[in-house]
Amino acid sequence: MAQFIIVKNKVKSFNKKITIDSDKSISIRSLIFASLATGISKIQNLLESEDIFNTIKSLKKLGIKIKKIKKTYVVNGLGINKFKYKKKMTLDAGNSGTLARLIASLLIRSPYKIKLIGDKSLSKRDFGRIVDPLSKFGAEFYPKNKKTLPLMIKHNKNCKEDFFFENKGSAQVKSAIMLAALNFKHTTQILAKKSRNHTENFFKFLNIPIKIKKGQKKDLIKIKGIEKIKPFNYKVPADVSSGLFFIALAILAKNSKLTLKNVNINFSRIGAIEILKKMGVNFVFKNKKKYKGEDVSDIFVQSPKKLIAINCASKMNSRAIDEFLIIFLIAAKAKGTSYFKDIGELNQKESPRLKIGSDFLKMIGVKNYVTANSIKIVGQPNLYLSKNYEMKNFLKDHRVFMMSVIAALTLGGNWKIFDPESFKTSFPSFLKLIRKMGGKYKVSKK
Ligand code: S3P
Repeated sequence: MAQFIIVKNKVKSFNKKITIDSDKSISIRSLIFASLATGISKIQNLLESEDIFNTIKSLKKLGIKIKKIKKTYVVNGLGINKFKYKKKMTLDAGNSGTLARLIASLLIRSPYKIKLIGDKSLSKRDFGRIVDPLSKFGAEFYPKNKKTLPLMIKHNKNCKEDFFFENKGSAQVKSAIMLAALNFKHTTQILAKKSRNHTENFFKFLNIPIKIKKGQKKDLIKIKGIEKIKPFNYKVPADVSSGLFFIALAILAKNSKLTLKNVNINFSRIGAIEILKKMGVNFVFKNKKKYKGEDVSDIFVQSPKKLIAINCASKMNSRAIDEFLIIFLIAAKAKGTSYFKDIGELNQKESPRLKIGSDFLKMIGVKNYVTANSIKIVGQPNLYLSKNYEMKNFLKDHRVFMMSVIAALTLGGNWKIFDPESFKTSFPSFLKLIRKMGGKYKVSKK
């Protein structure tokens, strides 16, 4: 039976302090690095979402013992390339591109074919982007020339590839190459278009040899394999990408104030905040601190007096890659026409988000002009909705669901938003926190 939520009322003004769920990128990486370390690592505040549960399940299948003791995840790492590979093993990455692409890089030495599968959305996404570099490292993929999941992966030959070029600005591809390079003693160089740098931060924090030469658009990363990684303790901060949905709620609900506590504000992740600043929103960062290479802070935001359109520089794209749906929604209420270019990568996400974002805006009467790589959005500062709206067929993309809920709670109209389970891949507390903000909704079945 198809499930949906019904939203009929706008949220009232609020003034709240909340803690958002933990960072997804860092949670997945913390588990992966803990599995590669030799000995017992302890992870606190691990995100308890479906993408993470799939990470835990996959690592357990590979022989890693993971237990939750009170609130801490205790991971008994076996060391680099010490997984217990078995014949006919299948790993299910569910909805997670990060898990699938990162774990594939850990299988390049498997003597047996390991099958990697994912859900309907993940099975539509491009895996050619990791098949190519990982093949250069000596892995073999089956069926040959296939670029989507399901795929099987196995060790083929020892290779000494030492230079890679990552030109999509994909942290998943960059991280897959970095993790694969851990298997080799020689120096691997990656010239990578800028993208989130949590993997680099883990390398530094864990004393894995890494040198980074930062350029304007690209970084040159040099890595050397290592015998052993020491186990570690880690406390995962809150996820700014999840936080952005509530920041958008505060921006679009009138006269509201919001503080998000202990959020990861890594420079490579806060492009959306900088874009929104340019659109007229003020942010205050409080209690800033460094944590194991990451920047963490409380974030205060309030509804701005007015929103202005933006001509968004392409250099912001990778720093805001997961936030464009919410940025488009805010641009719909801004004065003037906003322009976002070189954002074709958005169509490679859990759903084709550039297309879906454009269709969504059309549905609510916001004129926009979309191409395969850009969108122009004609803002309507007085946008007010009063009709019936239905949001469905978005491949259960968690961020499409959450953006739609924020739109429904701030723009008016009667809404039916399908697939209310979808947000559980990244942000399981989303609807609970919506209630805490005073947002009203009902879960229904057709
Ligand atoms: C992620 C990288 C980004 C992002 C995804 C998480 C990561 O994907 O969209 O949500 O944790 O490395 P790409 O690397 O494909 O851009």
